Amino acid sequence: MKFADLKGFAFDLDGVIADTAKFHSQAWHQTADKVGTTWTPELQEALKGVSRMDSLEMILKAGGHESDYTQEEKEALAAEKNDNYGKLIATLTPADILPGMQAFLDELREKGYKLSLASASKNAPKILKYLGLTDYFVGVVDPATLSAGKPDPEIFARAAEILDLPANQVAGLEDSAAGIKSINGASELSIGIGDQLSEAAVRFSDTSQVSLANIEAALR
Ligand code: BG6
Ligand code: MG
Repeated sequence: MKFADLKGFAFDLDGVIADTAKFHSQAWHQTADKVGTTWTPELQEALKGVSRMDSLEMILKAGGHESDYTQEEKEALAAEKNDNYGKLIATLTPADILPGMQAFLDELREKGYKLSLASASKNAPKILKYLGLTDYFVGVVDPATLSAGKPDPEIFARAAEILDLPANQVAGLEDSAAGIKSINGASELSIGIGDQLSEAAVRFSDTSQVSLANIEAALR
């Protein structure tokens, strides 16, 4: 993709805009302990970007517990995780915006790029509010309306629809392997943040590196 074609950005939230990936991990770690699944760095990484119920299924499967719980019990486990997560995010303020992201969002707004949110999290609108960022976005994809979560392309395709732009004018920003797959599947420009995203078209080691100048340089 040429830099000059870019008109809009679809953002992931957890681990891209907000320092909340650590809170999801902390809460899921508690769930893993409860069901008897060993918590590993690989499991922690694989859960990034994955919806609440899919995450629970992965945790159960990792410990061989996929048949140990009824649907009702699974829903209770997921609700308990969300309660624990809710307590952790209740303290969020604009100070929890990841390094460089406030400046990047300001730069995009100033230069007239359109922004939408493609987060798998049902807590995303609340978090945007805590961070004071709601007004930056034309719209937020409601993950409850998706037929499939990341890595399926649906969420990033919907984020481009919200922007009213064709896929080849949209870049997606992600910190998860599942999210990069989703962006690539939607034929948008994938921008990965972190060291483990080999499938991303453009890669940055952390959020402080993300700027229009650095994206332009990477595409040159
Ligand atoms: C993603 C996170 O943004 O949202 C995942 O990376 C999380 O870790 C998913 O499981 C769903 O979040 P929630 O808030 O709806 O449980
Ligand atoms: Mg994320």
